[in-house]
Amino acid sequence: MDNNKNYTLTETKDVETFFHGYAADFDSIYGHTKKRSGWDKFLDKYFRRSMRLRYDLVLKYSANPEIKTILDVGCGGGVYCEALLVAGKTVTGLDIADGMLELAEQKTKRFAEQGKVNYVHSGYLEHHFTQQFDAAVLVGFFDYIKTPLDVFKKLQTEITKELLMSFPKSGGFLGWQRKVRYKMRNCPLYYYSKNDLEALFAKMGWQNKAEIFDIDRDFFVRIKL
Ligand SMILES: C[S@@+](CC[C@H](N)C(=O)[O-])C[C@H]1O[C@@H](n2cnc3c(N)ncnc32)[C@H](O)[C@@H]1O
Repeated sequence: MDNNKNYTLTETKDVETFFHGYAADFDSIYGHTKKRSGWDKFLDKYFRRSMRLRYDLVLKYSANPEIKTILDVGCGGGVYCEALLVAGKTVTGLDIADGMLELAEQKTKRFAEQGKVNYVHSGYLEHHFTQQFDAAVLVGFFDYIKTPLDVFKKLQTEITKELLMSFPKSGGFLGWQRKVRYKMRNCPLYYYSKNDLEALFAKMGWQNKAEIFDIDRDFFVRIKL
């Protein structure tokens, strides 16, 4: 596994610390493990509909046979890496949190032996890839990104065909409540309105390339480059 620890933003370090500590619990959001409090279970369930919808959309669009290599940015515990590998893709997972990558590696061990998957331990903006990928998946990632335009500009150089991304919606009591909970643990959180997204995509010249889907707690975005 590659390793790169020079952060562009100091708050990226806070995100790493948060997710490293969260790793053991993270899979429970997908319903894989048991020990969660009643309130946590309620929140998991509330956010799960969006999670299911964005998962289905990623699998639907990445099924395009022209998409063979995929970069999963902020791959976390490897739920998407595993599903994409099962679908026959070659996957690179990148994440800033060691604990998350350990989960991902465990989940996809059987594919590593065939050379179909590899992992990079780094913040996305801090890692330089020497190869390009057909598509990138960025799910549950922009929640923690202060400078999304920098991420888009980097993606434009590394990805040739398609971007599949989720953005948490601004507004609502539970969104606010989540922000407070994360702030108490020193983890920054960013939300987006449809106008925010359209303005960002216009800056990239992507206004005619972006499909924006309203999926409950998130916007799901497909960009055909
Ligand atoms: C909510 S999890 C989502 C994981 C996975 N994509 C999924 O949907 O199951 C967000 C992940 O993004 C990672 N992350 C946050 N900021 C990052 C950054 N700047 N570079 C790389 N990974 C980052 C976190 O460590 C965490 O594992």
